[in-house]
Amino acid sequence: MGRISGSRLEGKQAIISGAARGLGASIARLYALEGATVLLTDILDELGEQTAAAIRDEGGQAIYQHLDVTSESDWTAAVERCAAEFGPVNLFVSNAFRFGGPALADTTTDEWRKGLEVNLTGPFFGMRAVLPTMRANRDGIIVAIASSDGPDASLPTHADYQAAKAGTTALVRHIAVTYGREGIRANAVHPGPIRTPVLIVQGFVPVVEKVAAGVPLGRIAEPEEVAWVAVFLGSDESSYVTGARYLVEGGSTVTIAPVGTAD
Ligand SMILES: NC(=O)c1ccc[n+]([C@@H]2O[C@H](COP(=O)([O-])OP(=O)(O)OC[C@H]3O[C@@H](n4cnc5c(N)ncnc54)[C@H](O)[C@@H]3O)[C@@H](O)[C@H]2O)c1
Repeated sequence: MGRISGSRLEGKQAIISGAARGLGASIARLYALEGATVLLTDILDELGEQTAAAIRDEGGQAIYQHLDVTSESDWTAAVERCAAEFGPVNLFVSNAFRFGGPALADTTTDEWRKGLEVNLTGPFFGMRAVLPTMRANRDGIIVAIASSDGPDASLPTHADYQAAKAGTTALVRHIAVTYGREGIRANAVHPGPIRTPVLIVQGFVPVVEKVAAGVPLGRIAEPEEVAWVAVFLGSDESSYVTGARYLVEGGSTVTIAPVGTAD
């Protein structure tokens, strides 16, 4: 991607979870280059520091802080750090996640609890941590990265992940309905398969490429293709959008049969 130097997010102080790599890193980069000040957080500290440094090298304002989304005290510390370094948080992207387990009948209680802990309790902790500042200032935007897998459609695996993502979308709607009159908006992004490290690490790319061949756009997404939607939702351009879910899945939930595979 070429050089970006915009102003769509000027005046935004953002916290992003899971920003060391993948989609979170891409959102952090675009946010910073569009004028936001960005606190990147993750549990991969070395990589997180490198990602923040690379954004600074491109002219963005970004710092990194360790944050495990399952730790309430880590969330408190991140909100305080953002206020101290940049100003009160008014933009939060809930993005971190843990890879899901198997299909429901094979999901152990331990896997279920761990999946829900990172993928649903984590977003809940984050939203609850940023809301007091946002409500006090009547200035807040929450962007939750959910998935099309769970809220919109289902694959025959990772039941815990699907349940957590559907729950995250419910939290977004809850916030939109409950705090809209206090100047707070919340929206969910529902991506389809994205070419990020998790797919590569899990050896998933060949599987996903096969699935992607059957979706209308015939390929998986690059991280920036999802991150630009998060830029729109994080900016004042989306000022009348709340409680919405944005599908960024190449049309995969639109079709009931694989397309482009008839031959
Ligand atoms: N890649 C896809 O195909 C795909 C599809 C749909 C939705 N998504 C969603 O996109 C988001 C980003 O995923 P990605 O593909 O970039 O994955 P990724 O694994 O490359 O990045 C996720 C990041 O979350 C961090 N993380 C994991 N556990 C954490 C914890 N307990 N506390 C804090 N950080 C933690 C990881 O260290 C990592 O940096 C996720 O919410 C995921 O569900 C991804």
